[in-house]
Parts: sequence; structure tokens; C-alpha cells
Amino acid sequence: LPVFPYSNPTTNPVDIFRCYISETLAGISGVDSKLIYDALEWTQSFEKGDLILAIPRLRLKGQKPDVIAKEWAEKFPENPYTEPIKAAGTFLQFFFKTEILKQLVIPTILKRKSAYGPVNTGKGKRVIVEFSSPNIAKPFHAGHLRSTIIGGFLSNLHESCGWDVVRMNYLGDWGKQFGILGVGFKRFGSEEKLLADPIHHLFEVYVQINRIIEEEKEVEKKAAEAAGVKQTHNGPTDEEAKNFFVRMENGDEEAVALWKRFRELSIEKYIATYARLNIQYDVYSGESQVSKETMQKVSQMLKEKNISEESEGAVIVDLTKHSKKLGKAIVQKKDGTTLYLTRDIGAAMERYEQYKFDKMIYVVASQQDLHLQQLFKILSLLEFDWADRVQHINFGMVLGMSTRKGTVVFLDDILAEAKDRMHEVMKKNEEKYKQVENPDAIADTVGRTGVMIQDMSGKRINNYNFDLDRMTSFEGDTGPYLQYAHSRLCSISRKAAIPEEDILNADLSLLTETHATNLLRCLAQYPDVLQNTLRTLEPTTVVTWLFKMTHLLSSSYDVLRVIGEDPKKAAARLALYESARQVLNNGMKLLGLSPVERM
Ligand code: ARG
Repeated sequence: LPVFPYSNPTTNPVDIFRCYISETLAGISGVDSKLIYDALEWTQSFEKGDLILAIPRLRLKGQKPDVIAKEWAEKFPENPYTEPIKAAGTFLQFFFKTEILKQLVIPTILKRKSAYGPVNTGKGKRVIVEFSSPNIAKPFHAGHLRSTIIGGFLSNLHESCGWDVVRMNYLGDWGKQFGILGVGFKRFGSEEKLLADPIHHLFEVYVQINRIIEEEKEVEKKAAEAAGVKQTHNGPTDEEAKNFFVRMENGDEEAVALWKRFRELSIEKYIATYARLNIQYDVYSGESQVSKETMQKVSQMLKEKNISEESEGAVIVDLTKHSKKLGKAIVQKKDGTTLYLTRDIGAAMERYEQYKFDKMIYVVASQQDLHLQQLFKILSLLEFDWADRVQHINFGMVLGMSTRKGTVVFLDDILAEAKDRMHEVMKKNEEKYKQVENPDAIADTVGRTGVMIQDMSGKRINNYNFDLDRMTSFEGDTGPYLQYAHSRLCSISRKAAIPEEDILNADLSLLTETHATNLLRCLAQYPDVLQNTLRTLEPTTVVTWLFKMTHLLSSSYDVLRVIGEDPKKAAARLALYESARQVLNNGMKLLGLSPVERM
């Protein structure tokens, strides 16, 4: 059989079918086989076959698509791979012969184990995935949570498909708020609290000092009103904060040292929290890390290329020349200080210098769509040859996120609360609960799964409601349901206690029931699901498929019994279940979850 440039039958058994079909149809019709190969799609339901070809997708001139479909179906020879081809309107439906499918898919999964699924399409390429990127001293809000979950997944996906992945956290660690924080810490800070819990303590200080700034601002406002003049400043504390930040920007030792401690202690804490989500960063970068030289280079290049212009003392880029909706962007303030956007331009340049990436993904909430569009436009106006390698992966909002502690939420608190709720749900099933060895750890893992699955269930761009009750429920397409499916498969294996040898050598022809063959057909899709996900960059592509597969499983247990069956049949069925467990495990890990073996 021909091997197409990007096909890999050893890692994706289904490709053999696809290659055979495309070559055969090419022979019948004279149409380019690659064209047919690319047009073959999976069906949504097995009644329509495994693969389907929409004739109109081939854009043939002359004959009507339904006539072509009929003609090709008739001419398609009998063969070892497919059942007789069906023409359904303008479609051709291909049903795989399950006998050969079994022989190809099950041994491939059982032998390749955790390597089953990903296909090495990213070999030799490097991607930077920038995700999470919280702001120090501010709450880790829902947007950061989503970015963390989605970005972690996208990193895993690329890595598994052979990409060299740089996981990057671009912290909000610079700006006037650090002047505020510096002043606040001098007044209300506690060394002890800072060391014990930097994230909460810095936030507490930040809120406290901000309250004072606001109060003073009010006083100034009233005074100005009373005097009948325009308000020119916000009071002494605000002034002090501004000065503090200016000192930071000028490299004042004391100011920088304090800021540096805030940053380092926060990062230490972040590392521990991300570890709970199975995430490890390669780089903690941040707005503060863009060098002064780069920033100067940015403004110089913008000027030289006539991209920026002066406007009322500030420097702006008028992007409306290119597109109305891009608006005008400020790149330098009147006082000469730089902005979020300017730092992003510099950061991108430095990243290319250092990593020579083939692709860079920014996982950032859709509230910042405009910001990233402006950034990308400016990069292309600057004529960087890598400007088209950047991509914004956006997502919608989480509505109603609050915990028992209140509406200001930190990642740690979300995870703690999901764990508590999960623990309560588990306790309701007393019999089972008594058997769980380490309920605390299980509640933690499964609760976290609930949070993450809810986040990845819908299309990224959709908003969703933060519903702890739903995400910790075993009913419906939830995290606990997936974990339960995995642990149930583990338990079947344990109870059956069939040696691995016997499973590997099982007589697969004994898998004759429709439940068995449908599960098999589903498992065969997994490598393609991943390739498809590399295009959509939507976690839901994987999540939806995992639920489809586990639903097939749930309906199979009664039909495909293992315990108490004839040993040969039991071994064959266990080969199928073990394949399902392996693929479920692979999919869950890709999503950043930790599959549990008992619960
Ligand atoms: N720190 C920013 C925020 O919390 C997100 C950073 C997004 N990334 C970027 N390169 N601008 O809103």
C-alpha cells in the first residue's frame, strides 16, 4: 500500500484503510489519491459507516455527485479492508471489516500503551505556549484558571505530537501597582505572613493600601470642588506609590529588592499550585523581564518604519489606517513610561531571538482580543518574518465564580473547595466510601478533575457557569464520571487477574457482539481525534470523544462480561477493555488529569 507523506500506519492503524480506499478510488476514477485521502472523514454515527466521502468535496466537473457516488460504489472491488461500499446520496460510506480492524487496533494499543494516539507530526518544530500569566498581588481570576487549563492541555498535545514545547508563564509583575504594593507593604506588611502565604498576604496589603488611596482621592476631589479648580492629584499615598514605581524603573536598589522578593516568593507558591494541576513551566517570564534595550529598540523601529506618531505628547500607533476596528493604540505615555502593549511587542521579539519558534500561542481571555489583534498587527507592520507564526487562543468567561470564602477567588481556594465538595459527594455512598483507602487524596484528584472537565467541555469561546454541584456529580458528562469509568476498568482487570501474556495472545475473533465492535471502531478513531485537535486547538474535541467512548463502555458491561466467562472469551474481552482503559488513560493525561485506579 502507498504511504502518504504524513500518514503513519504503525502509529495510526486506520491509515491503512484510508490509504487503501484512496488508492482504489483513484484507480477507478483517475482523481488524485491525495485529494481523496484528505476528503475522507469520520462519520458521526456508526450506522453511516466508519469513513465517509462527500463527493462534492472533490469538486469534479461534469457528472452529478450522486451519479458518481453510485458508479464508484459499484466499481469498488471486494477486498480485505472494507465491506461493500454504500452510496447514500452524494456520499460514499465505508464500513471497515471488523476482523482486520481488531487485529490492527487492539495489538497496537496494547503494545504502544501510552504512546498510542499521538502521531509525530511536530517533529523538529518548536512552539511557545504562553499561558496562565496571572498578575502578582492581584487575584488569580477565572480568566487565569481557564488559561491555565487550556494552555496546559495545548502544551501536552503539541508535546505528545513531537513538538518541542516551551511552557511559558508571562507574569503581570511590573507597573504602577507594584509602586502601590511597595508603599503598602512598608505600612502594613508582615514578614511572617509574607513567608507563610505570599499570594494572599500581598493581595491583602494591596486591597488595604488601595482603600487609603481611594479615600485620599475623594478628599482631594472635594477640596478641588470646593476651591472651584480642576483636580490635579490623587493625594499623598498615590504620589508616594508613583514615586516608588519610578524608583523601580530607575533601578533603585531598595525598591527593586523588595519587588524582587514579592516576585520570587509568589513564583515559589505558584510552582506548588501548578504542580497540583500537573503543570510545570519551563520559563517564568513576565512584563518585568523585557529589557530596557529591547524597549528602546521597539520605539526606535516603530518610529523609523513610520508606524508610530506623536499625539499630545504621547506616542501612538494609528491602526485605523489598516482596519477601523483596530483603533489607535498608545505605545508610550506622556511621562515616557511604556505600556502593556509595548512590553508585549518587546517580549515577542526577545522570545523569537531566544527560541526561534515555529509557532507561538497566546492563551488569553477573549476580553483581550483587541489587545492581541493590535499586537499581531504591529508585529506584521514591523515586518518580522515570524509575524505570522503567532496565534491567539481565546476563550469565554466563567460566570458566577465564587467560593465559600467570597467572590475573590484564588486558584488554591478553588481547588480546596472542589475537593471538599467532592469529599461530601463521596461520603453519601457509605458502602463504597468505606472501601476507599485514601479518600482525602481521591477527593482532591477527582474534585480537580471536575473543575477541569467542566472548563474543557464546551467550545473555548463559550461562557459557562461555575457550578460546583454539577462538576462534582457522578451523573452526566462530568469529571467524576470519567474517573469512575477509568477506575471501573482497573477494577475489572484486577478482579479478572488474567496474565498479560494471555491478554496479548487472546483470540480476538471471539469479539463478535456489536457492543464489542462499536467500542473497537471508536478506539480506532483516537489518533485522528488528536490530529483533528491539533487543527481545532479545542480541548472539547478530545473531551467529547472521551465521553462518547465511555458511554459505549458503560452500555457494554452487561453484555460483555469477563468474570465467570469462558476463559478464552474473558481474555478477548479483557484485551478490549484493557485497550479502552489505556486510551482513556492516555486521553485523560493529555487533558492534564491524573486517572485514579480506585475510588
Ligand atoms: N497578565 C495578563 C492579565 O492578567 C495576561 C497576560 C496575557 N499575555 C500577554 N502576552 N499579554 O490580564
